[in-house]
Amino acid sequence: MQAHNTTTHTTGSRPNQRLLNNFKHSFAFPDKLSAFLLLLPRAAVLLCLLVSSTLLLRSVFSSPSHRFILPDHISTSPTNISHIVFGIGASVQTWEARSLYTHLWWNPNRYRGFAWLDRDPGETKNPVPYRVSESCDGVGYSCTTAAVRMARIVVESYKLGLKNVRWFVMGDDDTVFFTENLVTVLAKYDHNQMYYIGGNSESIEQDQIHSYQMAFGGGGFAISYPLAAQLVNVMDGCLQRYSYFYGSDQRVWACITELGVHLTTERGFHQFDIKGDPYGILAAHPLAPLVSLHHLDRLEPLFPNQTRIDSLNLLMQAYRVDSSRILQQSLCYDRRRKWSVSIAWGYSVQIYLFMVAATDLDIPFQTFKTWRSWSDGPFNFNTRPVNSDPCWRPVVYFLKQVQEVGSRSIKTRYERFVAKEEKVCETIEYGRVMAVKDVTVSSTKMDTALWMKAAQRQCCEIMDRGRNDNIGIRIRKCRNSETITT
Ligand SMILES: *[C@@H]1O[C@H](CO)[C@@H](O)[C@H](O)[C@H]1NC(C)=O
Ligand SMILES: *[C@@H]1O[C@H](CO)[C@@H](O)[C@H](O)[C@H]1NC(C)=O
Repeated sequence: MQAHNTTTHTTGSRPNQRLLNNFKHSFAFPDKLSAFLLLLPRAAVLLCLLVSSTLLLRSVFSSPSHRFILPDHISTSPTNISHIVFGIGASVQTWEARSLYTHLWWNPNRYRGFAWLDRDPGETKNPVPYRVSESCDGVGYSCTTAAVRMARIVVESYKLGLKNVRWFVMGDDDTVFFTENLVTVLAKYDHNQMYYIGGNSESIEQDQIHSYQMAFGGGGFAISYPLAAQLVNVMDGCLQRYSYFYGSDQRVWACITELGVHLTTERGFHQFDIKGDPYGILAAHPLAPLVSLHHLDRLEPLFPNQTRIDSLNLLMQAYRVDSSRILQQSLCYDRRRKWSVSIAWGYSVQIYLFMVAATDLDIPFQTFKTWRSWSDGPFNFNTRPVNSDPCWRPVVYFLKQVQEVGSRSIKTRYERFVAKEEKVCETIEYGRVMAVKDVTVSSTKMDTALWMKAAQRQCCEIMDRGRNDNIGIRIRKCRNSETITT
């Protein structure tokens, strides 16, 4: 009974806490029945409390006379593209050339925001409306450096006083946004809280020089309205303190850090601080919606034997048909032939002529180097080397065609690609895979709501159609406990 003497717990505790503590101590009773009897009234009280508070809440929210009138930015309807204001960092020098990228994603009738330029470009074919950044002489530092000018874009965007803004999304003039997925990702978060959402650099050397906690600007990042509101107050003073920093994104990060807010990482923002061929990352994308791509001028085209812009147009074609599924990986096995298949939807298919575990298929091939020193890593994800023996490499197929069948079914076709200079494996087994010239993948349009739940990679199934030159594959939800052996 000594243990039941809860004076230390009762003094100063809030009623709920006390109830809980008593509850815990009741279990010290030796006699189970008396413990049960003692618990009974407490359980009843708890239940009553629960029911009455639920009823109260319901009456507050359902009766029109009590409905709160919320300010624009505090509304709780689902987030859509109209709630976003883009702030694109740009300069006259690159503005025309970069219209190549903005044309790919900017919709002048539906999107809000501006590109912020150093001066008036005159006539321009870039579809993004622009503003000339304000001069900030007289606030204690100069806006003449591009980094300071661009760091202030969030302030200038906020000061426009646009209505119904939930998020300010920053990007560069060479950032390609996948806006449907940007909305999907931002809709997961409460825009009434202070959020700073983006991704850091793929190259660890970059994260170490800048910060793991920083959203790299080229990949784009989102700042919720309440955070922007506070940032506006502190920005000018803060920029003076960090005048020695390198980029605008680092300055914004510093000011946000002073406000005590940390980065929320979303794996679909791609700064693409890599050199070479991005193939490895695209073919084994994280289980997250594709939000952005960057540095495409500096990388090899996404598809081999195609120009950069043709590559992007092809990827966009698949994205427009099923935005949620773009690049999403599905794995399956042909147990009879012992083949493994990895699909990156809307991009590529890999066929291996042996069984490969999911723990390997999940890992990007290292087809690229680090950004700064052209090293073989480290990156902020695992990589696996491309085997020098072609017999251990998969046969790779790239997207060729996207076709909608009915309202929700989609067929994508992928064609075998072998670079002219590439050594080819000469075994009979490998010859059987090489005989497959194209792969047809059927899928249904992925429900965007799936991204609001715990994400799970989907499975696929090889359909035996008695043909040697073509394989049909169906993407589907995985069965219960489905793995490489089941
Ligand atoms: C976005 O949501 C608002 C409500 O917050 C609604 O009025 C508007 O029509 C929606 N816009 C689009 C493009 O869906
Ligand atoms: C590259 O494309 C050209 C024309 O589109 C084609 O003739 C050539 O065979 C392709 N090269 C490879 C390696 O597929």
